[in-house]
Amino acid sequence: MLAVVAADAQTAKGPDAKPEPVLLTADPAVKAAAATVLASGEYKAGSNETLLLHAPAGLSAKRLLLVGVGKLAKITVNDVRNATGTAVRFTKPRGIRELVFVLPEVQNEPAARGVRAAVEGALVGDFDSDTYRSDRKDQSVQAFTLAAATGADRKAQEAALAEAVILAESQNFTRTLVNEPGNKMTPTILGQRAAEMAKSVGLKCEVYSTEKIHELKMGAFWSVAQGSAEPPALIVLRYEPEGVTDGPVLGLVGKGITFDSGGISLKPGAKMDEMKTDMAGGATMMGAMRAIALLKPKVRVIAVVCATENMPDGKAQKPGDIQIAMSGKSIEILNTDAEGRLVLADGITYAKQLGATHLIDAATLTGACVVALGTINTGAFSNDDETYGKLETALKVTGEKFWRLPLGDEYAEMIKSDIGDIKNTGGRWGGAVTAAEFLKVFAEETPWIHLDIAGTAWLEDGKPYIAKGPSGVAVRTILEWVRNF
Ligand code: BES
Ligand code: MN
Ligand code: ZN
Repeated sequence: MLAVVAADAQTAKGPDAKPEPVLLTADPAVKAAAATVLASGEYKAGSNETLLLHAPAGLSAKRLLLVGVGKLAKITVNDVRNATGTAVRFTKPRGIRELVFVLPEVQNEPAARGVRAAVEGALVGDFDSDTYRSDRKDQSVQAFTLAAATGADRKAQEAALAEAVILAESQNFTRTLVNEPGNKMTPTILGQRAAEMAKSVGLKCEVYSTEKIHELKMGAFWSVAQGSAEPPALIVLRYEPEGVTDGPVLGLVGKGITFDSGGISLKPGAKMDEMKTDMAGGATMMGAMRAIALLKPKVRVIAVVCATENMPDGKAQKPGDIQIAMSGKSIEILNTDAEGRLVLADGITYAKQLGATHLIDAATLTGACVVALGTINTGAFSNDDETYGKLETALKVTGEKFWRLPLGDEYAEMIKSDIGDIKNTGGRWGGAVTAAEFLKVFAEETPWIHLDIAGTAWLEDGKPYIAKGPSGVAVRTILEWVRNF
């Protein structure tokens, strides 16, 4: 059994007063079982601080795990999400297979929000990235039960539970894809995974390769793909809800570089292995489409994932080359390692051609974004405040951290080319912004959001509530953004 504790002094003030954390449940039996240790002052109930009690008096459970959420006045459903994640990650390696979570009340939040957060936290917490370890044991929690005061709210809570399972499993689907290394996740395999997923949830899916890329005159996408022995994949997923024939069509565009060596502008060897995660944007859109197909919002959505390796080769593009994008714009290639914006340029143009009225893209696009925001916030850009407003509303529900960065004509100046329309790098300064300006050239007047997930798609260190490795960032937020239309 597991209960949540907030760190608040309840006892009288004075020199001998000990902090007495508050157990966030009305259940008298759970309260009694934890009373002694909480009164001792030894356990501070800081965020994600755990305390395990064996044979708790008066409870039939074998153990009672307390998880801290920090200051009571500040708690939100995000703390509930982290608490169940922490509990699952704490119990997994100890072989504990069944958990009962005593749902805490969060002030000013309907219980259903707490249910959703609790279930998301538990399922996201259950993921581990050690797929290829021979000594990997199946340590997954097998049963996670919520103990909640339901009453009239029961229907809403059950709906929240079902929804949370879909959202967390979609996020974990994305993580599973991102976790695969370059030799196990080629563009062709990513296409197969998209087709399988689409079949299982009832989405339309088309996977094209070289021929279609030529037919569509996707010169920017092909310029990256031409240097690889692995064929590229152009993945299209369509969600067309019955009876919805007008209104917006949302276009989700993902960067699907299954390995980024830098191409002829070869990256240094150190940490080059991390570039197996460079298809995270594409995987994000596939996870979001999975959730959309299952949660059925009343709006049409198309996803376009441009998948290819970026490799050095006799056929690879060279710095100085000129490429003509699908939109007709000419691009001067100054650095073949700025490849993400090239495949996205044609992905964006194609999504518009397929009818998208609003666009969102996700990409592990720039190291500069990691320098600017670290690994905490995803960089976000938009050419339309109203469309961005729907993302801000979504972030309030999902608890993810995005930070909006600026666009502007002065930045657009930095990517003007002498020989062609634009160049694919704008120099060292403001690298995340000039990359976004590059994409904006292809979004044109269509309302568009760009998410730079270079720093947030992969967690180098695990947290108490989530494993190290692929994070699945933005999947839940994009789903919520779609619902806001
Ligand atoms: N995939 C990288 C960006 C990246 C860096 C992702 C670190 C995750 C972690 C991207 O293709 C890239 O190489 N960008 C270059 C652009 C530069 C050449 C203008 C970069 O950021 O250095
Ligand atoms: Mn690159
Ligand atoms: Zn890249």
